[in-house]
Amino acid sequence: MKTLIKNIQQIVGVSEESKCTMKKGNEMNEISIINDGWILIEDDVIVDFGNMETWKGVDDWNKTNIIDANNGTILPAWCDSHTHIVYAGTRELEFLDRINGLSYEEIAKNGGGILNSAKLLSQTDQNVLYHQAAKRLDKLIKLGTGAIEIKSGYGLDTKNEIKMLKVIQELKHNFPIPIKATFLGAHAVPKDITQEKYVSTIINEMIPEVAKQNLADYIDVFCDKGFFTDYETEKILECGIKHGLKPKIHANELDFSGGIQVGVKMNALSVDHLEFTGEKEIALLNNSNTIPTLLPGTAHFLDLKYPPARLMIDSGLGVAIATDYNPGSCPSGDMGKIISLACVKMKITPTEAINGATINGAFAMEVNKLLGNIKKGKKANLIITEEIPSINYIPYSMGENNIAKVIINGKIYHDSETNY
Ligand code: NIG
Ligand code: FE
Repeated sequence: MKTLIKNIQQIVGVSEESKCTMKKGNEMNEISIINDGWILIEDDVIVDFGNMETWKGVDDWNKTNIIDANNGTILPAWCDSHTHIVYAGTRELEFLDRINGLSYEEIAKNGGGILNSAKLLSQTDQNVLYHQAAKRLDKLIKLGTGAIEIKSGYGLDTKNEIKMLKVIQELKHNFPIPIKATFLGAHAVPKDITQEKYVSTIINEMIPEVAKQNLADYIDVFCDKGFFTDYETEKILECGIKHGLKPKIHANELDFSGGIQVGVKMNALSVDHLEFTGEKEIALLNNSNTIPTLLPGTAHFLDLKYPPARLMIDSGLGVAIATDYNPGSCPSGDMGKIISLACVKMKITPTEAINGATINGAFAMEVNKLLGNIKKGKKANLIITEEIPSINYIPYSMGENNIAKVIINGKIYHDSETNY
């Protein structure tokens, strides 16, 4: 079946090149746009697009669905390469504690934080957990997310980590967007076990079991002050790699943790957070294939300093932007809101933020062959906005939802008019 999208004011993020590459340095501020456009989709794939002057008509109108963009703008769907959307319960009491002066680390030391979520998760059965996560994911797709990475890390023992990963596996089966699963056993050390013993449990018990059941694509470690050291991170990643899991890690959110160094050394796909990043770390990243992924929603919500995105891009790096959606440090998965924060707080342009949240995000979760831009042969996962003056309006409107329709695999997943 063919689908034609017509009446498009702008098609944003098109690529006519044969190769699809990440946007780095100055390229991050470039995005190709076609005005007054049309897009033709066959089944779930973009087969052609162009300006109305190039429109050749369709062979058989009876066999073509028409989607009217009503003079809206079309963008590739967001690629959110870092989330923790499988969790039980919420943590708004800690939000109050932080407002009253406690830090994220102090809350964690008192058994709150990740350990609080782990306790709630251990009391929640897989089915309930699945339904809570599925509800969140459905909402995110309606906000334009067309590919997502989801981490475990609130289980903190083999049984509950596997339970989380099985929920992610079920989401993969039941939802129409690409989902990547990351094993994050090394998220925090449970109360009843020493740090050393827990690291050895991760290496000797959890990773082999996760790999045996084929439940994860990536391995993650929270390499930061008060959580896991760079040495422990290296040992855990080494074991993950041996079991076929590529590293994609939390680094330098709370301090200069050595996380960027160990990520680069272990050839991690991405190092994420990076609030504490200096020139030395930027130089290292520039000599590597590791993608710096920035999560401005977390810096906002925990009131941290922001990662030096401007310096990174000006030094030639390509950055990805993601939400970090989780119950503790960023209870939002709205990529529109996150790119607005990225622009205002990290002084990056709307074009840089959109590239970070689409094509570069696609690379940071290895879905770049399928998604991230509007290219012949790629999957038709697209956002159709209401009529907007320019793409700058998206972050300018500060998280206002200007999405009219979301197309997934060439079909309408969400239409704001019918609310389905
Ligand atoms: O990415 N930094 C580590 N993990 C999460 C927070 C998890 C939580 O507080 O529940 C993050 O910010
Ligand atoms: Fe995270």
